[in-house]
Amino acid sequence: MEQELNRLQQEAEEDLGQINEIAQLEAFRVKYLGRKGGALTSIMRQLGTVDPHDRPRLGQLANDVKQEVESWFEEKKEQLTATQIRHTDSTTDFSLPGRYLPYGKLHPVTQVMEEICSIFEGLGFAVAEGPDVETDYYNFEALNIPKHHPARDMHDTFYVTDSILLRTHTSPMQARIMEQQDPPLRYIAPGKVYRCDSDITHTPMFHQVEGFLVDRDVSFADLKGVLTSFTHKMFERELALRFRPSFFPFTEPSAEVDIACVICNGSGCRVCKRTGWLEILGSGLIDPEVLKMVGYDPDIYSGFAFGLGVERIAMLKYGIDDIRLYYENDLRFLSQF
Ligand code: DAH
Repeated sequence: MEQELNRLQQEAEEDLGQINEIAQLEAFRVKYLGRKGGALTSIMRQLGTVDPHDRPRLGQLANDVKQEVESWFEEKKEQLTATQIRHTDSTTDFSLPGRYLPYGKLHPVTQVMEEICSIFEGLGFAVAEGPDVETDYYNFEALNIPKHHPARDMHDTFYVTDSILLRTHTSPMQARIMEQQDPPLRYIAPGKVYRCDSDITHTPMFHQVEGFLVDRDVSFADLKGVLTSFTHKMFERELALRFRPSFFPFTEPSAEVDIACVICNGSGCRVCKRTGWLEILGSGLIDPEVLKMVGYDPDIYSGFAFGLGVERIAMLKYGIDDIRLYYENDLRFLSQF
């Protein structure tokens, strides 16, 4: 049996040497390794008949030979498959390196929006999102802006029908949330807003983050504290803040908030138009009328609200001077963030 095994091994090696097409490989496999009638398989079946004394040694040898032939077979198969692929398509060069697939990135506006949200989440605010297609009621009426109110003119609204529109700000989320829940409330609402306006500082779609807090005894000092902490985190330094009296129909009193110019640090430059200040958001204490409309008693509850433009914050943070760059899909611009 030992001789027979050695002979088969040698024969298999020679046979395999002759093979140069995949189609011939199957016959080789059947001849030596086939489960029924393969030469090596049959010889192993005979192990039962040999002298029990020699059985372990011969068994080991038979196994070794079989494994050896199997590994030659696999090797040859791989070799022939590779050549065959190379020959079937002469225009493909398999030695070329693979194609580089670059990773995508989040849009800078998305990055800044996420950063804004995570700062407010750190201050205990929950995040809520609402519809882009909004009703006239939530966009205006519930925010103390009745029909024919002059404040509507500032919004350059895209109307879908007389009573349905693309929201012009994220403030409608104040009314939507307050209507559904009782104080205390601490929410921010990020999202897209739309206005029929386009120039270097306006795009017809842009992003805002609305924030508000309602509880007992909320004062302007709370608003100042929250916005100061937010600004310092956002711009990574202790910039000065200025609360400038302003007017919004849904807040009373109202303030626009300026930060010391991030470019010149307040000394006056082109970006801040020599004023030393940059406006970053609108804010105020929620108007008692707004609280009444959602069924809150303004003698018990008070709150503050603010709304900021994400593109504007990102422009100031990264020194971008034209808002339209965000929406031109130019990778040379986008991949810098
Ligand atoms: N909704 C205002 C706008 O888009 C921004 C704003 C101002 C939101 C004052 C507020 C606020 O919550 O208190 O112009």
